[in-house]
Amino acid sequence: MTTSFVKDVFRNAAGSPIRELKKYSERPGMISLAGGYPSNELMDAQGLQKVLQSFSHSEFSAALQYGGTEGLPALRAELAKLSHTKGLQVKADDLVVLSGSQQGIDLIARTLISPGDVVLVQAPTYPAALSAFRLAGATIHQLANDAQGICFDQLEATLQTLKPKLIYTVPTFANPSGKTLSKAHRLALLKLAVKYQCVVLEDDPYSDLWFDTPPPAPIFAMRHQVDGGENVCVYLSSLSKTLAPALRLGWILGPNDIRRACVLAKQSDDMQASTLTQTAAAAYLASGQFHKNLPKLRDFYALRAHTLASEINITMQGKITLTAPQGGMFIWCNAPGIDSSMWLQVAIKHNVMFVPGAAFFAHDPDASAFRLSFASQNLAGLHTGVQRLSQSLDEFSA
Ligand SMILES: Cc1ncc(COP(=O)(O)O)c(C=O)c1O
Repeated sequence: MTTSFVKDVFRNAAGSPIRELKKYSERPGMISLAGGYPSNELMDAQGLQKVLQSFSHSEFSAALQYGGTEGLPALRAELAKLSHTKGLQVKADDLVVLSGSQQGIDLIARTLISPGDVVLVQAPTYPAALSAFRLAGATIHQLANDAQGICFDQLEATLQTLKPKLIYTVPTFANPSGKTLSKAHRLALLKLAVKYQCVVLEDDPYSDLWFDTPPPAPIFAMRHQVDGGENVCVYLSSLSKTLAPALRLGWILGPNDIRRACVLAKQSDDMQASTLTQTAAAAYLASGQFHKNLPKLRDFYALRAHTLASEINITMQGKITLTAPQGGMFIWCNAPGIDSSMWLQVAIKHNVMFVPGAAFFAHDPDASAFRLSFASQNLAGLHTGVQRLSQSLDEFSA
């Protein structure tokens, strides 16, 4: 037997279930309702191309150079303005540009979590966050989601007994549940975090994608309402879902010491987010086109969400239950009595895919749950996708 030099935590880790499914999504004819990929049709490729073409030779040449770890000043200024539209009164210097918000989760896990520290998550939650916390050696404790998004009945007792270092939450149009924490619950969560001295890591990639009404302001916007609140709030957001994921651009806000630790960790990671994509994003945001496009994005995703939910309710009535989301990219579903991981094998043969629920739990998964994304399929694709889901479920249950 050969010895492996790889650390146990990596040797025993499963890959991201969603990334592992990607190979099937590339199969010709496959309708993937699995990944949270923004629609290619909705990304402003032309606008970004125009911005790149407008660069002078010297601007383009500067964009090919290394830059500071905190990010390009022009982009930091634009992201501060974008943060204002979300109710966050911050300055350019208050934020650090990330190579995607996923990097922020990893940097926080690396800088705050020591092996054995408890991290509290909602169940279900975003799998790549679970993975970052696990790789940092965290003990993950999950709180059941209730209608409010977090089960407050259990929260205080858990904070008291387990003394978690960090609570990870996606409070707005959560991945995968689609749920949104109310303003009152955001404040209640913040108060408890201060009382029990626990960092709240608020992951917010979806709040711009609301359908009918804007969501409550982020928890981070409430940090001054609670004495000591500014010491425990960390906020992440991203341009992936509203502009383009390939830019790999996100940003982090938080207390100076935590931000500084993240900058140090980033220096030994990728040093900086790409100067080229930062320059392009800064110019694109400055052009005003980003804000002009948002209403179109919201309308498209609202229509897709509504279409997928109603197609399922009509075609799979009595077989699947779901909660219609008010924003974001996901519908969380349940197929009572069905193991969705096993059903997926049959579904793939029918050229349709979803993500089985098990991926979204730290432990004790709900095997009958699964996540659908409506974001990257057009209406015809959603219609055919539901027909195939229905046929494959009938075949699987027969
Ligand atoms: C909740 C959540 N956080 C973070 C990310 C990572 O996004 P980014 O592309 O900004 O790294 C995603 C992407 O799906 C997500 O759903």
